[in-house]
Amino acid sequence: MRTQVGIIGAGPAGLLLSHLLALRGIDSVVVEIRSRAYCEARQRAGVLEDGSVRLLREAGLASRLDRQGLEHGGIYLQFAGERHHIDFRALTGGRTVTVYAQTEVVKDLVAQRLAAGGAVHFGASDTAVDHLTSDRPVLRFTDAEGARHEIACDAIAGCDGFHGISRPAIPADLLTIRQRGYPHAWLGILADVPPSTDELIYAHHRNGFALHSLRSPTISRLYLQVDPDEPIDDWPDDRIWDELQRRFELPGSGWALKQGPVLDKGITPMRSFVSAPMRYGRLFLAGDAAHIVPPTGAKGLNLAIADVAVLAPALDALLRGDAGLADAYSATCLNRVWRATHFSWWMTTMLHRSPGADDMAAELQLSQLRYVVSSRAAATSLAENYTGYPALPAGAGLTR
Ligand code: FAD
Ligand code: PHB
Repeated sequence: MRTQVGIIGAGPAGLLLSHLLALRGIDSVVVEIRSRAYCEARQRAGVLEDGSVRLLREAGLASRLDRQGLEHGGIYLQFAGERHHIDFRALTGGRTVTVYAQTEVVKDLVAQRLAAGGAVHFGASDTAVDHLTSDRPVLRFTDAEGARHEIACDAIAGCDGFHGISRPAIPADLLTIRQRGYPHAWLGILADVPPSTDELIYAHHRNGFALHSLRSPTISRLYLQVDPDEPIDDWPDDRIWDELQRRFELPGSGWALKQGPVLDKGITPMRSFVSAPMRYGRLFLAGDAAHIVPPTGAKGLNLAIADVAVLAPALDALLRGDAGLADAYSATCLNRVWRATHFSWWMTTMLHRSPGADDMAAELQLSQLRYVVSSRAAATSLAENYTGYPALPAGAGLTR
């Protein structure tokens, strides 16, 4: 077998890259270890920056997003029994975010790739790469029927997430890894109940952080800070709702959190991780394969989209004999990655309660929160980062 770009992983990064390359007339083969159903059902992120929405729209992928996505012009920050609105539109000259679940982004991308005749091999196993420093790298895998394949490529994109094989294929002594663990995890639920709020609520509480997000006018998505080693079985639905009620409570306001049947629940650990460079020879890493952020800043999915918006034109030029953009790929991406890494760390440390934190730490957190909601400069910084910084330019990923 032969293709121009071998792509490992059918998450948002791999599928969107395959589509952006197809728009340039470049063929690719996507190899994915999970089934299509699994990829389309995996509950993850929900917030798209306006630059991500524009890219999906410009790439012809937004017909359902434009109908079902929920545009939001701000968020609430809640602490010390007060709820404050951060007005993104007013602070950033009209920028917004859109709530549209990663599951839906993946469904739209899979449908598009298959309708266009794109090669996506779900249920593959034993993925491996070879000859990465040559100009004919090789991607090997066993397909769902058990047949072994070897694909000669011009370049390979490692879009296989944090636990994939791409990053470990780079010699360890060539990588610089920076990482930080956090003493928190998020217990996330999907609930069959209309959202109790018009904007996402990020709540800081002495029991820990809570987030009220949503998926549609009838489905809510809620998160609770829990200890990373807590088993999910310790959290029956009643206990989850009791704790959510406690952390979102706003005495005297008349506001109430509506409860409903829990459709899905899971615990996600948190870490910051950046591996550099994002390239080794003709292997290019994109998305979670190269970097992970804690979810508090809603950046993971947006970084994956931004990486492939840089990678598609870089591969296009490389395949036409111009290596300039490919040589700049890692540094270009890492600039945004580090901004998002700092923002996600900052939101996480401002809003979560750390085990053993003393009164000094608690007062410093409250002071930071009070500053963000009272200073236009501080609120603007949050708004600018949350809506995406640097903003993805118009035509990103599509123009040369
Ligand atoms: P992925 O979506 O991880 O896709 C990688 C794909 O590669 C997967 O389909 C995987 O099955 C496949 N793969 C792995 N190994 C191989 C292999 N050897 N061969 C072939 N295929 C392989 N971000 C937020 O902003 N908010 C959130 O609430 C949030 N929640 C999250 C919850 C979880 C449990 C996780 C893991 C991530 C969460 N994220 C969240 C982060 C966000 O979902 C990711 O940043 C985003 O999925 C990155 O997309 P990606 O395409 O780079 O990687
Ligand atoms: C979500 O809706 O899943 C979501 C929203 C905001 C975040 C993280 C996750 O910061």
